[in-house]
Amino acid sequence: MADKGREETTEQLQDYSRRFVLWSSKEDSVYSFVNMVRNRLVSELALTFGVVLVLVLASAGCTKAASGGSASPEASSPNSQTISQPERDYRDKVYPILKNNCFRCHSGMNHRGGLSMNTRESLLKGGRDGVVVIPGKPETSLLVDLVRHEGPKNDPMPMPPKSKLSDADIYVLTQWVKDGAVMVPIRP
Ligand code: HEC
Repeated sequence: MADKGREETTEQLQDYSRRFVLWSSKEDSVYSFVNMVRNRLVSELALTFGVVLVLVLASAGCTKAASGGSASPEASSPNSQTISQPERDYRDKVYPILKNNCFRCHSGMNHRGGLSMNTRESLLKGGRDGVVVIPGKPETSLLVDLVRHEGPKNDPMPMPPKSKLSDADIYVLTQWVKDGAVMVPIRP
């Protein structure tokens, strides 16, 4: 009886190992193994990516909080917190007009007509023909006459020399002189 039992067990074991060999030689099982490994890798990658994302978001949140709750670089510039309305107008409306139409001849190393617009001080000093901006008085400011093309015909010539600003831009510059021709340093 006991021998028969052992024989059966041996047979069963042989059967199992045969089935195992059969199973592991099947392509399917190899694929499923590879798949299993790949899925694991993918989920670990996803986990790592998720952790990194959370860290990045968290540090962005900290920077945001430190800069006063605003993520925009413009608003976090040093001259943003306590900026006055004329200063804001200069930064947002006037500066872009001057930068696009005047600075290449009237700032940096260029002082055409003796006029530098580098700072408010140099602007108020004027050019070869004297004072060009009288704060609060656009009607007697040469700069305003020139951009309106209502100045002297040739000397100094209308500004910019080869074109005319839009009416909207001329209006902005006129208002700017009227409001005191405020200028603040702008980070490029
Ligand atoms: C392409 C170069 C150039 C650009 C751009 C330019 N200017 Fe001029 N600007 C000159 C020159 C050159 C003179 C001298 C003209 C003259 O004496 O007839 C001058 C003279 C002036 C003067 C008179 C200075 C004085 O005392 O005689 C004013 C004011 C002026 N520009 C304002 C402006 C403004 C405002 C802009 C932009 C809207 C501008 N310019 C754009 C070249 C330029």
